[in-house]
Amino acid sequence: MSPIYHRVSIRKYLDKPVDDELIKEVLRAGMQAPSASNQQPWEFYVTHDHEKMTALSEVSPYAKMLKNAPCAIVSAYRKNCRLPDYAEIDLSIAMENMWLRCDELGLGAVWLGIAPIEERMKGCEEICEMDENLCAFGILVIGWPAEEKKQQDRFEESRIHIF
Ligand SMILES: Cc1cc2nc3c(=O)[nH]c(=O)nc-3n(C[C@H](O)[C@H](O)[C@H](O)COP(=O)(O)O)c2cc1C
Repeated sequence: MSPIYHRVSIRKYLDKPVDDELIKEVLRAGMQAPSASNQQPWEFYVTHDHEKMTALSEVSPYAKMLKNAPCAIVSAYRKNCRLPDYAEIDLSIAMENMWLRCDELGLGAVWLGIAPIEERMKGCEEICEMDENLCAFGILVIGWPAEEKKQQDRFEESRIHIF
């Protein structure tokens, strides 16, 4: 089945590490995303460090699962990319690519919203010690799933407007 119809938000993880090679596969999918003018404005900060993830969990009220996760990827974009107005759109595509790839690899993941909320962005930028030129965008929390969920069917014929 296509991961589009299988991926769900997984917020509970087994106490089992995620191999770096798998994380690299996930990052490869992220970097394979299309972007405006092919600008590829992304940078990715990967951590397996419990203390760093606990610090990141304080950045947003909806990030508690980070405290019990084996791995997280914080995505960011370069402010001085060619088309900065499109950078957050480009990063969204990269995040979805990574989330879908996690699903294909049997990993469980959830996207945590950081941008455009400035306070959350600043928190991530400080914890990751990002360069001045970078803006934090989102966090993908990754682990081996410790919960099972079925995806909702969200198809609604009424949302389609033929003109
Ligand atoms: C931009 C974005 C931000 C999100 N932020 C959070 C978050 O901060 N915390 C969280 O637990 N889930 C977060 N989610 C996950 C959504 O709540 C989830 O995708 C949605 O409820 C649909 O469920 P599903 O992913 O299982 O299909 C976010 C998802 C997106 C796309």
